[in-house]
Amino acid sequence: MTTDPVFRKRYLDALAATPQILGSTGSRLLSGATPAHDALERRIAHHMGSQDALLFHTGWEGNVCFFGTVPQKHDWIIYDELMHASFYSGLAISKTPPKQRIRMRHNSVASLTKALRHIVAQGGLNTTKDGLKPTIFLVCESIYSMDGDFAPLPAFIDTMDAYIPKDQQCNFVDEAHSTAMYGEGGRGICWALGPEYRNRVHVRLMTFGKAVGTAGSALLLTSMVKLYITNFAWSVIFSTAPPHSLLVAVRESWDMLASPEGDAKRQEMYDNIAYFNSLVDRVLSIAPANVLRRPEVDGFAPFPAEAATQLPEHPPSAVVALCTPDPDALYEFALERGFILSSIIPPAVPPGQERIRICLRAGMEKRHMDRLAQILVEYIQSKVQTDQVPAKL
Ligand SMILES: Cc1ncc(COP(=O)(O)O)c(C=O)c1O
Repeated sequence: MTTDPVFRKRYLDALAATPQILGSTGSRLLSGATPAHDALERRIAHHMGSQDALLFHTGWEGNVCFFGTVPQKHDWIIYDELMHASFYSGLAISKTPPKQRIRMRHNSVASLTKALRHIVAQGGLNTTKDGLKPTIFLVCESIYSMDGDFAPLPAFIDTMDAYIPKDQQCNFVDEAHSTAMYGEGGRGICWALGPEYRNRVHVRLMTFGKAVGTAGSALLLTSMVKLYITNFAWSVIFSTAPPHSLLVAVRESWDMLASPEGDAKRQEMYDNIAYFNSLVDRVLSIAPANVLRRPEVDGFAPFPAEAATQLPEHPPSAVVALCTPDPDALYEFALERGFILSSIIPPAVPPGQERIRICLRAGMEKRHMDRLAQILVEYIQSKVQTDQVPAKL
């Protein structure tokens, strides 16, 4: 979207037709609660099948505000160990004490079950002496950015139901990497799982800096929790609300992404994912594992066919991760040949999991993907005895 000429024109036309395009002038409790903010939030909430929505300048801020404000002293938070740093920043200022924060193994239903049993055994579901019922938060992402793997959401949600009464659950899904990419109109993975599961996800974070091509985020939540955050989160109370220009950009991008043009872009992206992965399989067939390999992904669980009306069992992932001991060297090698790859090193991944990450998108041309695959072959050749590796794919 950031380079799409149609979107650019629509955005500029919409700005020209909008009376107020600059600053919001104040925080959401003061002059920053404008009709334009309310209108976009209502529109996003309606579109996403949520009671309400709350806009932020970034996805980072959405996570920090939620986790820094909503979970209370008597609550419990179970979270996937590979959660994004913004979640950890929220957790760092959370009122929930460290002994009630449980880090579970990545994508592990067994680990979630163990955590829930522990909470039940500790009396963690019991009403406090002040008459408050604890809430058990389950926190995960729908798709993870380092391996491009999906959370086993239906299994997580069913497991929560098996141990926690409905009125004490809060299932939170960060959809940063699935916003605009999956589901009808790009509504994300939770939406794509269908109403049976979607309605049991209580809060979703949709971010706009990635596939939406703008910036900002929206928490999809109840009006009560929105009111609570706007009145208690410091970075909402003491910070100027997002500017009007951003609201216009998000609105125009969503409109396009939810239309048949958005469907065409998503299809083009899925086609590119299939094409590039077939090239990578060929590259890896000639690569020693100590030079280039795919990461081993823990806990992969295909989406159950009956849950997925819009999602294949194995959805295509736009993130292609390739582990290599010296990602900076491969980064330089590709850069000299005209390609920018992401070099990912600790602490973003554990030691031994260093990698390059390639993010595919609609609008990429086959010849570029062919050339990139050839560069990977040349890199492998530069690392091993050249007679062991064919010169071309
Ligand atoms: C899973 C996840 N959540 C939240 C964020 C933060 O979003 P933003 O870049 O809009 O601050 C990111 C960004 O990388 C992310 O990957």
